[in-house]
Amino acid sequence: MNTQYLTAFERSIADPEGFWMDEAQELSWMVPPSRALDRLPNGASQWFPDGMLNTSALCLDVHVAAGRGDQLALIYDSPVTGVVRKYTYSELLAEVNALAAGLSAAGVGKGDTAIIYMPMIPEAAIAMLACARIGAVHSVVFGGFAPRELAIRMDDARPKVILTADAGVEVQRVIDYKPLVDEAIAHAQHQPERVVVFHRGLAGTCQMGARDIRWDDFVQAGAEVPPTPVGSNDPLYILYTSGTTGLPKGIVRENGGHAVALRYSMEHIYGIQPGEVFWAASDVGWVVGHSYIVYAPLLRGATTVLFEGKPIKTPDASTFWRVIAEHRVVTMFTAPTAIRAIRKEDPQAELLQAFDLRHFRAQFLAGERCDADTLNWTRDVLQVPVIDHWWQTESGWPMLGQCLGYGLDAVKPGSASFPIPGYDVRIVTAEGAEAAPGEEGLVCVKLPLPPGALADLWNNTERFEQGYLTPVPGHYFSGDGGYRDADGYVFITGRVDDVINVAGHRLSTAEMEEILAAHPGVAECACFGVHCDLKGQVPMALVVPTGSGDFEALATELKAAIRHEIGAIASLKAVVAVERLPKTRSGKILRKTLRAIADGVEYKVPSTIDDPTILTEIEQTLQPSQP
Ligand code: COA
Ligand code: AMP
Repeated sequence: MNTQYLTAFERSIADPEGFWMDEAQELSWMVPPSRALDRLPNGASQWFPDGMLNTSALCLDVHVAAGRGDQLALIYDSPVTGVVRKYTYSELLAEVNALAAGLSAAGVGKGDTAIIYMPMIPEAAIAMLACARIGAVHSVVFGGFAPRELAIRMDDARPKVILTADAGVEVQRVIDYKPLVDEAIAHAQHQPERVVVFHRGLAGTCQMGARDIRWDDFVQAGAEVPPTPVGSNDPLYILYTSGTTGLPKGIVRENGGHAVALRYSMEHIYGIQPGEVFWAASDVGWVVGHSYIVYAPLLRGATTVLFEGKPIKTPDASTFWRVIAEHRVVTMFTAPTAIRAIRKEDPQAELLQAFDLRHFRAQFLAGERCDADTLNWTRDVLQVPVIDHWWQTESGWPMLGQCLGYGLDAVKPGSASFPIPGYDVRIVTAEGAEAAPGEEGLVCVKLPLPPGALADLWNNTERFEQGYLTPVPGHYFSGDGGYRDADGYVFITGRVDDVINVAGHRLSTAEMEEILAAHPGVAECACFGVHCDLKGQVPMALVVPTGSGDFEALATELKAAIRHEIGAIASLKAVVAVERLPKTRSGKILRKTLRAIADGVEYKVPSTIDDPTILTEIEQTLQPSQP
């Protein structure tokens, strides 16, 4: 391991307070913190407890004040609408001020919540920064989620306003957002006071009701809103993510630690200098979008790309290369699924030949396990280092990876490499001991968690403690399994719970089961993720029907129910009828065994199984029906 990385890592573990206090000096605090860390009795970290700051000011005002107002802050590139629009730091600040003034006039202030349900347009980032400016807490909901999901989040976050748009575009299909918001409000118990709608002119008709107001009528162009000082541990945002129950978890991100950690990560992990162009090809609805489309590049004074398109079909598999070339992106971030999709369309990367990517320095991959073949192909065609790094909504920034800013070590395909400074990653056996090299265990982080990582769940400290801090005392439990080899490289093998990962999107099988079980035709069901060459995993359901009617019709209804209740990203690839489900003697469904059977991989018959003969039945039913 290179010495610069090692020195930083070792200091971050031996002296976290000193390490992060030094990093905190890189930011312009309104009131600088006098101490680094308070450790709460439950193990949670409160970083820079007496510091005051404003995240929007750190993202915008400080750069304008430093004379870089004319530098590009954000490039919006939308192949689905044929638009490219660029904002300098001064222009972005003006847009944020105008919306912040509208929000303030509508009575939204410090500590109030706002939901942002928008497609990938600059106004989504502007909405996030405007909330941050006035100390309001935003909760962005991914635009691909169905109204029921939006309603669940509304009832938990209790927003005063919802910011949305008339429509988004999925490749060539226009998706009307406003009716989805109306449906969610009709489902939800909590009612927002205002719905602010940005009109793109894409939706046929956009019905406006009494609580709705057009974005253009809501903002106050030319206004200047002084950034509200907030405490370091005041929440900046809530981001819901799938857990092991039907109810998503509201990850709370605080202002101070987040700003310190994200600025640090841009410099040292991604190796980005102010003024350089960074691109995270994700969606603002996911944590990657929060951290690396919006906040981190701006905290670093870099230029971010906000891309409204897909790796393929918008218009073809050369889109990523065009964006890198046209906007002079030096480092980018995407999910392995996106690369697999490009490779499927253009296996020899012939489309790449048309572009000059000599300025491109590195490709980062995350969001799901990256197979060695995908990583090697990417490296061979791009001729730059390809770095697999591992993180979660909870951490908000990488926990494993390599730091371009400190210099790279050899990459081992299939491994997400080493702990990032701040994260004391440990592999712990089921008995709670440190695993031996090569031995698989639970991937944990020894406490304290560094700045930026979650400190709580919104409205649910008990679930936070039970889910993350109690399973392995003294550690944060990630929910992933993995091992460390003799050279210190960590390999993530996948979730050990009922969360699955589809195209880099995290989904709860428990939630899917709840939806299926609510159908009168379903006596019992089990959902699990099966291998997919493109998306990593796709969800599949085994169903014990209540009657002997037309199963094809039932399966069609069940697939439609999942799309309608969660969204198309959770589409079930197969619904298979079975007579019984394999369970433990205490009645727990053996989903891991089902997944192994469906994937056609070897498995051990669990010693806890109630009736092993069911497995033979399932094998006979499942193997021909692999998606
Ligand atoms: N709004 C509405 N619908 C959406 C949506 C959104 N924001 N995002 C996805 N969907 C819909 C799609 O239209 C599709 O609907 P369909 O089944 O009716 O066609 C469905 O959800 C599945 O979408 P997607 O997961 O994008 O799959 P796809 O087959 O359309 O495209 C890929 C395949 C590989 C191109 C796509 O999965 C992809 O770009 N993956 C990379 C994702 C990524 O970057 N993840 C990282 C997050 S950090
Ligand atoms: P999310 O919170 O949606 O970002 O999903 C986080 C989960 O995605 C992790 O718990 C892992 O299971 C998976 N994941 C993310 N990055 C990687 C990676 N580089 N390698 C393996 N799994 C990953």
